[in-house]
Amino acid sequence: MARMELTKDFANDFAARLTAVATETETLLGRLLGGEPLPGETARPERLLAAMRHAVLGGGKRLRPFLLVETAALCGAPRDGALLAGAALECLHCYSLVHDDLPAMDDDELRRGRPTVHKAFDQATAILAGDALLTLAFDILARVEVHDDANVRIALVTELARASGLGGMAGGQMLDLAAEGRFVERRALGEIEIAMLQAMKTGALIRFACRAGAILGQAGSPERASIDRYGAAIGQAFQIADDLLDVEGDSATLGKATAKDAAAGKATLVSALGVKGAHARLDALIAEADAALETFGAKADTLCAAARFVAQRRN
Ligand code: IPE
Ligand code: IPE
Ligand code: MG
Ligand code: MG
Ligand code: MG
Repeated sequence: MARMELTKDFANDFAARLTAVATETETLLGRLLGGEPLPGETARPERLLAAMRHAVLGGGKRLRPFLLVETAALCGAPRDGALLAGAALECLHCYSLVHDDLPAMDDDELRRGRPTVHKAFDQATAILAGDALLTLAFDILARVEVHDDANVRIALVTELARASGLGGMAGGQMLDLAAEGRFVERRALGEIEIAMLQAMKTGALIRFACRAGAILGQAGSPERASIDRYGAAIGQAFQIADDLLDVEGDSATLGKATAKDAAAGKATLVSALGVKGAHARLDALIAEADAALETFGAKADTLCAAARFVAQRRN
């Protein structure tokens, strides 16, 4: 089944599984962002907490938690720890969105169909909400409920730090802004440079989601390598789909502005390959994701469906 087009029943099953993770993640995040200070905290300032809740709750596809939970399931890890790790990753992802939308970065006013955090609050509050979500992600990931083996938790913390920092998401965001020509004269990037930038700014967190599932399941190296190959393929596909949606999508459905990337001079594979070329690349990446999971057989059908979802999503 995995290597064919999805049947209607399977597509429905996939949607139900994604909704289940999204609902469970929302509940967890609501609890994690409660008003009661934790041991070691002094107080939780109301305005900052409200901004963090605005950034995190009530929207988002929760794709990264879903990938984490499904790869964990594939590797035999218990669901509760995977959901908690997924919530940690979602906090980090939401921080990246809050900062990405700031006037100094992409300057966006709409996110998930609502005002961006700096619009609903103010820029200083948005910067601090991002900071606090970033650190909350590591607080959550280090908790014993994620996994009872501390070595597993250390591996998760290290991998998330690397996926999100200098050599990962933040580094990719730097290259993304530099490619607009903000700091030195603009020069059109080649396909390989764009792929690297995107693998960092977007791919790294999606790849981490998949790797984290394998870490939680304490999978052996061949399984880890297959899952990592899958994660890299869908991470790349995810940003190409995002860039295509900027051109072809509908702002109301997407919940964010469209037609901004070309005007900003963003380096995207749509700009390098054209719309048709970018669609062809997406198809090739789905095939690559399928090939990576071949070794798991039908057990990986949900993840194969996720690859199609990433490429075909409308929001
Ligand atoms: C948007 O990510 C940012 C990119 C990396 C392109 P998502 O499309 O996953 O955003 P939400 O979480 O569903 O809102
Ligand atoms: C975002 O890429 C990548 C992040 C690290 C947040 P984009 O800037 O294209 O994401 P959107 O289109 O604003 O969601
Ligand atoms: Mg951006
Ligand atoms: Mg943006
Ligand atoms: Mg975009």
